[in-house]
Amino acid sequence: MSANMLAYSRAEERRSQANATDVILTGDRPTGSLHLGHYAGSLRSRLALQGQCSQTLLIADLQALTDSSGRAAHVARHVLEVALDYLAVGIDPAQTTIAVQSRLSALAELTVLYLNLVTVARLERNPTVKAEVELRGFERDIPAGFLCYPVSQAADITGFRATLVPVGDDQLPMIEQTNEIVRRVNRLAGDAVLPECRALLSSTPRLPGVDGRKASKSLGNAIPLSATSDEIRRLVRAMYTDPGHVRASDPGRVEGNVVFAYLDAFDPDATTVSELKERYRGGGLGDVALKRRLEGVLEALLAPIRARRAALAGDHAYVMDVLHAGSERANATTEGALRDVRGAFALAA
Ligand code: TRP
Repeated sequence: MSANMLAYSRAEERRSQANATDVILTGDRPTGSLHLGHYAGSLRSRLALQGQCSQTLLIADLQALTDSSGRAAHVARHVLEVALDYLAVGIDPAQTTIAVQSRLSALAELTVLYLNLVTVARLERNPTVKAEVELRGFERDIPAGFLCYPVSQAADITGFRATLVPVGDDQLPMIEQTNEIVRRVNRLAGDAVLPECRALLSSTPRLPGVDGRKASKSLGNAIPLSATSDEIRRLVRAMYTDPGHVRASDPGRVEGNVVFAYLDAFDPDATTVSELKERYRGGGLGDVALKRRLEGVLEALLAPIRARRAALAGDHAYVMDVLHAGSERANATTEGALRDVRGAFALAA
C-alpha cells in the first residue's frame, strides 16, 4: 500500500462498521470470472451483510469498457459470468439487488453532471487511476472515459444514496473523490440531498496469486470460483512456498508462503493452522503434506459453489430474469437520486 493510501485507510478505519440503517453498494468490473481473491476480499463480507442491510451489487460493464472498449463482446459475456458467480456463492436476489450498470441510464446522466464539479488536475491526481494508467501502459493515450471513471463510480455510489461501500484499499481514493462531489452537489442544492459514504475495508489481507504475485486473471495465477478438482490440484501444487525449504526436515518460512496465506483465509480450523505453522517453522513438515491439506480445504469450499454454478449456467432464462428484475428496481432508485441532482443544477425535474 502506498503512503497515500495508508493515510486514506487510517482516516477510514475508525468508521468501518455496518449499521442496520446503512445502504450498501459495491460493484465489480465484468472483465473476467471471479476468483478466490474476490471471495476472501469481498464476496464473503457481502454474504455476511446480506439480510442485515439494504445491499446492491452492480455489475459495472460501463466501467469495464473504459479500459476494454476493444473487448466489448468479452465484457458483455462476463456480465453473465459475474452474475453466475454471485448466485453460485449464495448471493440471494430476494435479499440483494443485482443490477447491470449499463441498464441504469440515470447513472450516465449523473456522471455528465458531476463532470462539471471535478477538475482534470484532480482526476490526474487520483493515485489508483495513476497506478492503473502505468500498469496498462496508457502513457499519453489515456481514454478520457478511463480518466473519468472515478466520476462514474461516484454516480454509481450516489445514485443509490449508498452510505457504505465494501471495497479493497485501492478503492479508497474513489470514496474520497465521491465525497468531494457529494459536498459540491449539496452546496449547489443548498440542502443535503446526497449522503456522504464511507468504505468498509475487508479484514483479510489481499490474497496473493499462486506464484506470490498480485492475483490476476491475465497472469493465470488466480484460482477461479469455478475451478474443477483437477485445476485446484494443479494450482495448489504450483504454489510458491519457501525456496529454502528443500527437505521436509528443513525449517521453513511462513511469511510470504502462499499456502499459508490461503490456509489463513479459508481453513475453518485456525488452531490447527497455527500448529502447522509452528511445525513448519521448526522443520518437520513437508510442502506436499501442507498442500494436500489446502487442496482438501479448497475442494470443500468450492465443490458446492461449482455445483450451484453448473446448475445455474444451464438456466440462462433464470439468470437473465434476476438481472432484469434487479436492474428494474435499481432504475427506480437511481432515477430518484437523479431527480434531486438535476434540481441542484436548476434543471427541470
Ligand atoms: N472500481 C471497482 C473495481 O474495480 C468496481 C466498481 C464500479 C465499484 N462501481 C463501483 C465498486 C461502485 C464500489 C462501488 O473493483
